[in-house]
Amino acid sequence: MSERVARDGRERYLVTSALPYANGPLHIGHMAGAYLPADVYVRYLRMRGEDVVFVGGTDEHGVPITLTAEREGKEPQEVVDYWYAHMKETFSRFGISFDNFSRTSTPLHARNTQIFYEKLKEGGYISEAESKQMYSPTEGRFLPDRYVEGTCPVCGYKEARGDQCDNCGSWYEAYELIEPHSKITGGPVEVRETTHLYLDLPKFSDRLQEWVGRQDHWRDSVRNFVLGMIGGGLERRPITRDITWGVPIPEPGFEDKRFYVWFDAPIGYVSSTMEWAENAADPDRWRAYWQEPETKLIHFIGKDNTVFHAVVWPAMLMGASESGEEPFVLPHDVLANEFMNLEVVVNGERRPMQMSTSRNLAVWLHEALDDFPADLLRFYLASILPETADVNFSWRELQERVNSDLIGTLGNYVNRTLSFLERYFDGEALRPEEISADAKEVFADFKEIEARYEARMLAGRPRDALGELLAMGRRANRFFDAEAPWKSRKENPEAARATLYACSVLLGSIAYHAAPYVPEAVERLEKFFGGTIARVSDLEKLPDAYRANNAKPLFRRVEDSEVEAAERRLSAAAEG
Ligand code: 2FM
Ligand code: ZN
Repeated sequence: MSERVARDGRERYLVTSALPYANGPLHIGHMAGAYLPADVYVRYLRMRGEDVVFVGGTDEHGVPITLTAEREGKEPQEVVDYWYAHMKETFSRFGISFDNFSRTSTPLHARNTQIFYEKLKEGGYISEAESKQMYSPTEGRFLPDRYVEGTCPVCGYKEARGDQCDNCGSWYEAYELIEPHSKITGGPVEVRETTHLYLDLPKFSDRLQEWVGRQDHWRDSVRNFVLGMIGGGLERRPITRDITWGVPIPEPGFEDKRFYVWFDAPIGYVSSTMEWAENAADPDRWRAYWQEPETKLIHFIGKDNTVFHAVVWPAMLMGASESGEEPFVLPHDVLANEFMNLEVVVNGERRPMQMSTSRNLAVWLHEALDDFPADLLRFYLASILPETADVNFSWRELQERVNSDLIGTLGNYVNRTLSFLERYFDGEALRPEEISADAKEVFADFKEIEARYEARMLAGRPRDALGELLAMGRRANRFFDAEAPWKSRKENPEAARATLYACSVLLGSIAYHAAPYVPEAVERLEKFFGGTIARVSDLEKLPDAYRANNAKPLFRRVEDSEVEAAERRLSAAAEG
């Protein structure tokens, strides 16, 4: 059995991944945007021995849910129950290691949302106002914009959506549509006045600007987005809707309305942490992660969620912090990722295409996991994470990355080291009396690469850190080649044994840095690799011994036939 060594000194982190709407299966775009980068980051923090809680859950309110329910002729509860279980299972198969995976339809979350609302109201941040909204007399209810269709007031396009025209791109209010009608029944709709509650964002403008201005470590894309928005002037935002599915509003006259999904969703992070604390029989423990100022709160999201996490949510946290209780921490970082597109073969030609879930033009995770081990998918996705720009997922590139980098560089190094140990040295490498100059050099190189890996990972860029892991693999293979233990074994067995010892130290470091990406493989490795899994930089003293026993290859190759089959599925969706 191996032993994992962590560094001293613990920092506290609360890490979140965006709560996905519980209305359909997860695809690789979800994974690349908010879940895999967070999971890799969290696993790394845990390896280092930091105090981390990683929360997630499903977003179970809002129009995405009710539209799905209506389309399928089901109750919203039935829809979210099904997809909550489905998503939870898929996340677990993919190795996403949430400490708690909750859902926003719990009573705890409803209570928590109402408490947030009360605090914001006490602080004077809530106001009430009338607005115009589309009402369907036949259905007897107000319709959200996405439920309304009509003729575009700008270009005359007949099937324009309630808030935006797909033909000319214009934005307008739903009541400006010509001959507006319900998307569900086709019946006519009319304009009626309705009352809503608003969050007074302008009141936070100065504080937000000052705070965001100080976040030098944020990604420029996120920081500039927020500063630009504040510069353009914030407006108050309605936080209630005329719907009956969602968190009830604790105000008389609002019985038939519910909180807007984007009001309660981020509060879901707090609720999930509370649930985690309750399950751990330490119900107040969530406070350490949300209210102790040294906690680093990190949100992983797709870029389309930026405004909610970097403007509205911090404002809510600021406003809810004035009630006399301990104030909430503000996000230490909002790691917004770009989008992932697909490389699809269409009529014989490869081209990038946007995913389309309605056309089934997507790589669904539960299906991919039926065909490939999670580690292979994780490794490839991690190598192309959209950290700075949109990227394309390509099955052919997956094959190439897995076969050449994961297997050819990393797996090969593990195999050759362990099989050599087993074959010629009874599976044992003891620390030699003296460490050779070559070994000292490779250790020094490793320390440098480890430092770069660490810096990239802690900056929330696991794709860049993965590049450093591969650099470790290449450097270790070069060392093995240069030392040529297959030669020295005959001429100078002690030198060969010392080489294998040094190789094992490097292997411990590679395993340490690979574990966040391919956790299942490293767990298997630990069964046949007996030794210290640690950064070379953290080894106060070189370990006494490393052992290998019955080592097996960690990964399997990806075959041409598998790539062809996967590509055919995408082509069929794109062409069909
Ligand atoms: O965009 C989405 O899929 C939302 N359900 C994300 C919510 S993130 C958080 F605030 F809950
Ligand atoms: Zn138009």
